[in-house]
Parts: sequence; structure tokens; C-alpha cells
Amino acid sequence: MTQRKGIILAGGSGTRLYPLTMAVSKQLMPIYDKPMIFYPLSIVMLAGVREVAIITTPEDQAQFRRLLGDGSQWGMSFEYIEQPSPDGLAQAYLLAEDFLDGAPSVMVLGDNIFFGHDLPKMLRSADERADGGTVFGYHVAEPQHYGVVGFDANGQANQIIEKPSEPPSNFAVTGLYFLDGDAPRRAKEIKPSARGELEITSLLETYLGEGTLSVETMGRGFAWLDTGTHGSLLDAGNFVRTLSLRQGMLVGSPEEIAFDNGWIDEVQLRERAELFGKTDYGAYLQRLLVR
Ligand code: G1P
Repeated sequence: MTQRKGIILAGGSGTRLYPLTMAVSKQLMPIYDKPMIFYPLSIVMLAGVREVAIITTPEDQAQFRRLLGDGSQWGMSFEYIEQPSPDGLAQAYLLAEDFLDGAPSVMVLGDNIFFGHDLPKMLRSADERADGGTVFGYHVAEPQHYGVVGFDANGQANQIIEKPSEPPSNFAVTGLYFLDGDAPRRAKEIKPSARGELEITSLLETYLGEGTLSVETMGRGFAWLDTGTHGSLLDAGNFVRTLSLRQGMLVGSPEEIAFDNGWIDEVQLRERAELFGKTDYGAYLQRLLVR
């Protein structure tokens, strides 16, 4: 199989977090000790994907470049793509068509934070499925705010509905999509929804209808956190802080994952550790070097 490529979609105006996001992109907001985008980036890295396109608004691109560079500090390679206007998640596949060049992809939304035991295993097995797609359902209290999965009597997913007023289940589709190389072609064929967007749900439906979409559920031992309001943003930060302090381990550190993946060596890890100086983050990376 062609090597899978990554897409991190970090566009959008972030109006729900105003005035926080008037001058800075939502996906650069702090989640405890690191910028939000580090968390979805970690997911892509845990899936084993090194070549990633980062899609942002034209105005915000410079700041993402300043933070993430060309990816070589993590043994990766990044390409930046502008999304002139937020016309839906499926638009990402049109914008990234040249970058993907026929390769299968993993797309993660720049504001989605995942945590859970065996998550890397789940990601690797989704990566191994060459044809069709894999998405993840997660039980939430208020499914009507998301794409929602419906199941038939045998527990097979048989529908995905975008923000339904009467949700067929409590399982929301998370913002993490493994799709095959056909996604850009399919994205061209879908029509904008009533809210004028190219919905990811419409794209997923094309796979579901053909029986090539695998819907995996993330059990209650997983955390899929929301960052869409001031309160949930703070809650996500506190969640990460609680875990990090209790376990003495970082959550969502690209340096640690790159090192574990063998994408950077000790010299490169030391450079990053020194860059972060006397912070707890830097001290943690120093400890990885003597492990
Ligand atoms: C989008 C998708 C929705 C999905 C959600 C996950 O919603 O349209 O299907 O469940 O992301 O975060 P949006 O955040 O654009 O409202």
C-alpha cells in the first residue's frame, strides 16, 4: 500500500471562542502546557504518518509555520495549504488533492483531543486497512451537535447524519478520518448541504453505502474532548494537567512520539529539550534521554 499521508484541518474562524480567538487561531490556544494542534498532530504521528499537510486560513498560516516549521525537528515533513473560506470539512480533500497524489490519508481536525489506552494500536490497525475508510464513534451526552451514527439491529452502522435534531444514537463521529486514495474524487461529487458546506458526513455516506466504511467505537475508557467553548477549553487543559501530573508523563508530546518512533535521535531530542529550557516539558524530555 502507498504510504498514508496526514491532513490536519486547522481553519475556521473560531467565533465561538471570541474574544480569545480574535487575534490567534483556535488551534493555537493552550491546552495546559502545549498548543492545541500538538494533540491532533500526535494522533497522526501515532498512526505512523510522517508527511502531513496543515490546512489553515491564509491569515493564520504564518503563525503555524513559526510553531511547526517544516516538521524536520520531529523527523517529519509538513506542507502548508490555505483554506480561503471554511466551506466544510470535505473541502480539505479538494485542497489537499495534489499533496495526497493518490495516497490514502488520515485527516484529523485541529481541535480534536483524544486520549485512551491502546489508542496507538487502534490507529495502526486503521492505517493497515487499505481500501475504504475507518471512522470512530464515541458516546456523548449531546450527540445532536455532531455527525451521528445509526446502527441496525445487528449493531452494524447503517447511517451517519449531520447534527440531527433526533439523533439515532448517542455515538458521535469523531474528527478523525482514515480514507483511501479515492477521497478527493468523491469529494468533488458531493453537493453542499443546506448550511452551504461540503459535509464530511456526505463523503462518509458514499463509503457507507458501498459497505466499505468501518465504524469503530471508542469505548468509555477513551477521552474525546471538546474545546468549542471557554469552559470546555479549560476542562480539556485541566484534564491534561491532571493526567500529566499524576503519571509524570506528557500527553501529546510530538518530541516523545518522534523519539519513540525512531524518527529523531538523541541529539535532536536534546536540542528540543534545551529549547524548552527549565519548563517541566523540557525537564521531561531530558529524562527521556537518560531512560
Ligand atoms: C464536524 C463534523 C461532524 C463531526 C465533528 C467532530 O462538525 O461536521 O460530523 O462529528 O466535526 O468534531 P463541526 O465541528 O464542523 O460542527
